[in-house]
Amino acid sequence: MKIRVDQDKCQGHARCYGLAPELFDIDDYGTSSVVGDGTVPPELEERALLAIANCPEYAIEEVD
Ligand code: F3S
Repeated sequence: MKIRVDQDKCQGHARCYGLAPELFDIDDYGTSSVVGDGTVPPELEERALLAIANCPEYAIEEVD
């Protein structure tokens, strides 16, 4: 599984980071990005799906 954050949609709600800090980084402006290339280890897939479902801006998507 692989995910990405649409930087244009992200409004900095940081729910993704709260749910899965291993998978997301928040920059100084509050914008989220994926750690590394966005590849999600199997043990974190459930939390990646939670993050996708909990982003109010629908900014996180599964790409692979
Ligand atoms: Fe941005 Fe959504 Fe996370 S708005 S900071 S991707 S919860």
